[in-house]
Amino acid sequence: MTKASSPSGSIEAPASSLSDASNDEVRAAVRAQYGQVARVGAAGCAPACCGPGPVLSSKLGYSAEELAAVPDGANLGLGCGNPQALAALREGETVLDLGAGAGMDCFLAARQVGPRGRVIGVDMTPDMVSKARANARALQAPNVDFRLGEIEHLPVADGAVDVILSNCVINLSPDKRAVFAEAFRALRPGGRLAISDVVALGELPSHLASDIAALTGCVSGAASVDTLRALLRVAGFEQIRVDVRPESREFIREWMPGSGVENYVASASIEAVKPASAEARAATTAPAPLAEAKAEGTCCAPTCCPPKGAA
Ligand SMILES: C[S@@+](CC[C@H](N)C(=O)[O-])C[C@H]1O[C@@H](n2cnc3c(N)ncnc32)[C@H](O)[C@@H]1O
Repeated sequence: MTKASSPSGSIEAPASSLSDASNDEVRAAVRAQYGQVARVGAAGCAPACCGPGPVLSSKLGYSAEELAAVPDGANLGLGCGNPQALAALREGETVLDLGAGAGMDCFLAARQVGPRGRVIGVDMTPDMVSKARANARALQAPNVDFRLGEIEHLPVADGAVDVILSNCVINLSPDKRAVFAEAFRALRPGGRLAISDVVALGELPSHLASDIAALTGCVSGAASVDTLRALLRVAGFEQIRVDVRPESREFIREWMPGSGVENYVASASIEAVKPASAEARAATTAPAPLAEAKAEGTCCAPTCCPPKGAA
């Protein structure tokens, strides 16, 4: 059984290998890790979570002014990019952040959408949501709302949001197809995705692929660029862009020092648009991208989930 050390002891992989674990078992391991981080801060990562640490967030693309604007305790250094910089947010927009953590990107987004706009952060880890709500109270941010929930089952009405952000979260999901289907549902027609996440550059060595610390550390759950494109197309998105950021090597090598993870994953900017016309939703049944994602065998690596309904 795979083990990863953490300050509270060890998290045991709930099955003989990650590929045998159920989606709920994967989410339980991820929740345990990030609950620990919410309670003790970045020190709780050691070494099994994503991000360069609060001190190094400038490497992710945040300006000094942005970093100064987030309340103490909101920047846990868990991201791998700056999605709200990608999103070109406009005043009055409604924004949803998938896996909001302690709320850093939500608070930055709230400044951009202003008092007429609204920001909703969703996270499945109760201690993380409590921390984010405490930060919102301290910042007196009435237009930021944190909800407990899974990104595969979003607690948001159909067509309710203009923009979806996410920072270093979707790689942790054991069912990425459900995440993109839910994102599509929650966006209004014409709404957009602006995501920073980790992508796989090649096949991981087996000892990393089956390591729970590599999963919770945003390494082994990463999908390839082709798989992400296929999953986004299947969900119905258009204008898909996935841009790998080679400079991310510099901070990714610190996630699991000495393991060489920087050779296998990189941070990427992921953008897509929900078509303005609802009929374009028919694209979700297109068989070619499904086959493409399945053929690659990494649609949800390492806990691969063949597209539902596919043979
Ligand atoms: C690496 S942290 C990133 C947090 C935040 N986006 C940031 O940049 O600081 C991942 C967060 O996503 C949450 N998370 C992971 N998988 C999730 C899922 N399936 N549903 C909802 N939240 C999830 C975790 O609880 C954790 O707070």
